[in-house]
Amino acid sequence: MLGPVPSPSPVPIPPGSRPGASPGLEATIPIIDIRSTAHSVTVAALEDGIRANVLSGFTKPYNEKELPNLLLYNEEGLRLFEQITYQPDYYLTRLEIDILSRHAHQIANSVPDGAILLELGAGALRKTALILDALEAQGKDVTYFALDLDKPELLRTLAEVKGRYTHVSLAGLWGTYDDGCTWLKQVKDRPRIILWLGSSVGNMSRKEAGQFIRTFGDILAPRDRFIVAIDSKNHKLNDIRAAYDDRAGVTRRFALNALGNINDLFNADVVDVSSFDYNPYYNEVQGRNEAYFRCLKDTQVRIPSETPILVHEGEYIRFAFSHKYDRVERQVLWTAAGAYPVQEWMSQDGDYALTMLSWSS
Ligand SMILES: C[S@@+](CC[C@H](N)C(=O)[O-])C[C@H]1O[C@@H](n2cnc3c(N)ncnc32)[C@H](O)[C@@H]1O
Repeated sequence: MLGPVPSPSPVPIPPGSRPGASPGLEATIPIIDIRSTAHSVTVAALEDGIRANVLSGFTKPYNEKELPNLLLYNEEGLRLFEQITYQPDYYLTRLEIDILSRHAHQIANSVPDGAILLELGAGALRKTALILDALEAQGKDVTYFALDLDKPELLRTLAEVKGRYTHVSLAGLWGTYDDGCTWLKQVKDRPRIILWLGSSVGNMSRKEAGQFIRTFGDILAPRDRFIVAIDSKNHKLNDIRAAYDDRAGVTRRFALNALGNINDLFNADVVDVSSFDYNPYYNEVQGRNEAYFRCLKDTQVRIPSETPILVHEGEYIRFAFSHKYDRVERQVLWTAAGAYPVQEWMSQDGDYALTMLSWSS
């Protein structure tokens, strides 16, 4: 199956998009910069937004402080997340691979020739490759767009699958989910398949998740599809706890890297990372993992041009949720999104779901 990667079939590039700049790989794998220019044409709005959320999150009252989960996904964070997916404790990837290994051909059957596939928060492409391999085997000429937040990681992960395909063209979209939704509006002439894997939907509140999926429904045509993977609540408590606190300590490093990322984003010593530890907690009532930093000793957070903020020993700072969905909650989610489940594939024990949605009944 090795062969040259053809240039992606022409897909409109919005006028506001700025072409990526790094040489080398980019000559063969186009990375389209779709980061919103809402705030400025010169400064990346993505980083501005994260800095603003860091400031507002740290200025909340005692024990109500929160940090944006986007801090997790810088280049180092994405590499650590990939390592997490190889941890035996991280059952989510294992279950998703179980589903995709058995059903990738069925999924590929429902992708029309000439379609574009847009993957939200693509990360490493080990699982996606199962679908792309099935499309290639079926001789479907499609263009796959991996969307994520870090350009070097987009180049690295796409390079790992480059060369496997002659029918499947590859490209990266550098930006946020919202940027991807805006970009997608301009791709009307080809069938569109959205992929959202890894139970990333769980990182949003249940309400936000419904609204978010609905924004895609508002722009997709009846022939288009949205495929989303969701973890269930159907696991032993200890298995969930281990998934978010693996015994090799990779998740802990992944979490604490987000604090270091604050210093990089402000280019200053804002946070003393050694003053914090990672502390996950599975909230059975809410059906979600909650990820916190626990402050180990009184410490000052020094954001440039702002009054230093005291964080107290024992204080918790929340930075991520991972919601789980049972069958009824999935149905409620589809209803909130105004979508219809066309097909649902489950892992063998019925504890992880991959659902294909449509907006035409
Ligand atoms: C839980 S990881 C899942 C990665 C991969 N899809 C998988 O299944 O292993 C979430 C991914 O979504 C990306 N991500 C999170 N929030 C995002 C946002 N608002 N816009 C774009 N990408 C986002 C992260 O960078 C990361 O790659």
